[in-house]
Amino acid sequence: ETEIVSVDNDMDNLLSYQRAVDILKNGGVVAFPTETVYGLGALATDADAVQRIFEAKGRPSDNPLIVHIGNKEAVDKFAVDVPENARKLMDAFWPGPLTLVFHKRPGVIAENVSPGFDTVGLRMPDHPVALTLLRTLDGPLAAPSANRSGKPSPTEAAHVLTDLKGRIPLIVDGGKTGVGVESTVLDMTANPPEILRPGGVTREMIEEVIGPVHAESKSPSASDEEAPRAPGMKYMHYAPESPLFVIQPDEAEIREAVRQLHSEGKRVAVIGPDEFEIAEADWYFPVGPLHDNVAMAGNLYGAIRKCDLTDADLILAAATDHKGVGAAVMNRLLKAADGKRFNG
Ligand code: TXA
Ligand code: MG
Repeated sequence: ETEIVSVDNDMDNLLSYQRAVDILKNGGVVAFPTETVYGLGALATDADAVQRIFEAKGRPSDNPLIVHIGNKEAVDKFAVDVPENARKLMDAFWPGPLTLVFHKRPGVIAENVSPGFDTVGLRMPDHPVALTLLRTLDGPLAAPSANRSGKPSPTEAAHVLTDLKGRIPLIVDGGKTGVGVESTVLDMTANPPEILRPGGVTREMIEEVIGPVHAESKSPSASDEEAPRAPGMKYMHYAPESPLFVIQPDEAEIREAVRQLHSEGKRVAVIGPDEFEIAEADWYFPVGPLHDNVAMAGNLYGAIRKCDLTDADLILAAATDHKGVGAAVMNRLLKAADGKRFNG
């Protein structure tokens, strides 16, 4: 059975953290909130514990995991050849949604965290619950998103329960996460550094601190062959149960699309901005004000999960621009769509 403990400002918190730490120290896995999405953590120095993450998620074990740390100083315990630019980024954005890939210090992190790689992805999450857990544990936590493989990342404890009930012993419930899409992954072993996955810390923010970095094109699709250095990106991620199509954020165009799909006998769920009134839609899930990319990032995965609970034959999701976290939102949306755009 999966137990859920809520942590807030009450007196029982210490006991809840201690329970989580006991499980982790004994080689178990625990789900916990970060500022991006919920993670499924295991002690990163314990290969058997890390193996339990792959089993609970049903995740291919050649996809490397991010290692979470509770303070900047821990970087040098797990990585070598940390460049000066990385220190600048850590000072600017840690704690925060930025994962930095470094050369791995041999013999510290369990081999199955990044199997076959001589690198390790490190990040210090900006969430009081994650930081308290890491500091109470006093060790590194390997933690991918706490979803079943192929599902959207969880932004609420209830999402974790839906996916992993009975498969993990404990969920630490810290409420809804903030950013809502996963961290930016930046490979510091490449020259110039390369963004392997866009996220809450944008390219512009990074370049302001260290100058030009390399980034993939703006419209990836899940079926694209991608660089072997970003192995996680080759898997089909965030896939909803019904086919999802990206559509222009234009109210009239969406209404017309729904009418057309109805004439083909299809039931349609729509993900779009708060302002749109798509009376024709069988289901409408708003994700915040039009072009409020921060709101959209926070609400997108929850909306996709809501679509999965309907009988929709098809999902239309309104696009946004690439400003700020919009680049990460569009990256995830196009992956969920497997690159498909609706054009009548
Ligand atoms: O926001 C996040 O990053 C969340 C929360 C829980 O921290 N975690 C997360 O983990 O999204 P996961 O395992 O779902 O995604 C890890 C991504 C993958 O795309 C993987 O390929 C990449 O990070 N990654 C991790 N270590 C790497 C390494 N050594 N080299 C290249 N890519 C790496
Ligand atoms: Mg994930």
